[in-house]
Amino acid sequence: MDLLTKIRKNTGTLHSAAEHSGFIKRIVDGNASKESYAEYLFNLSAMYKAIEDTIDKNSSNEIVKDFVTKELYKYELIQKDLEFLLGDKLNTMELLPSTLSFIERINEIDNSSPELIVAYAYTRFIADLFGGRTFIALLSVNYGVPKEGLNYYNCDGIKDIRSYVMNYGAKINNMNLTEEQESKLINEVNNAYIYNLAISCELEAKLYSN
Ligand code: HEM
Repeated sequence: MDLLTKIRKNTGTLHSAAEHSGFIKRIVDGNASKESYAEYLFNLSAMYKAIEDTIDKNSSNEIVKDFVTKELYKYELIQKDLEFLLGDKLNTMELLPSTLSFIERINEIDNSSPELIVAYAYTRFIADLFGGRTFIALLSVNYGVPKEGLNYYNCDGIKDIRSYVMNYGAKINNMNLTEEQESKLINEVNNAYIYNLAISCELEAKLYSN
């Protein structure tokens, strides 16, 4: 069985949990708000910065070098959305503890096993090319977010999403990992889902628990 198939088999249930979790479910159900979406995005922005900086720092690593995919990077796009949605308020926002834990884990990976950053790149960037795409209509129709606040979803650098994703999957399968490294990578994809779940659930509890 190839590595991507193993990852999918291992993480399918967690994907389903993430898809239906806390704040993400709230957005999908139409019960969130433009302001709460901005807070979610603020936390996502920090996640992307950690992932993208770690990939760039390790761009000469034998495994990481194939995953320096600037066309998928989101930090700068999200910053534009945040400036539009939050204006000066952006300077007073604070990250969720779950997001800080996430960043800590990414720093650990940077220092100890940089190849594991691929787990986070895959989980966030490939999610953006699938479920993430459905958010454009959702955010503009249900929450009145205009295109100036939807730069995050821009995939102009990718001509054919299906073939791009297939090619990304092929790169994962060609990582040439030892059995031990493979199982660590699969675990780390689980961790990536768990952190995403935590952020979604924590934000839901923070904003809507009363
Ligand atoms: C409303 C929320 C979501 C929806 C509607 C959604 C939907 C989808 C769909 C339709 C696919 C394609 C499945 C396929 O073709 O086999 C997909 C794949 C994927 N999603 Fe989501 N998703 C959501 C949330 C998330 C979240 C929160 C994450 C993690 C951060 C995530 C990570 C992924 C990944 C990594 C894949 C690629 C899986 C693969 O390699 O086949 N998704 N999603």
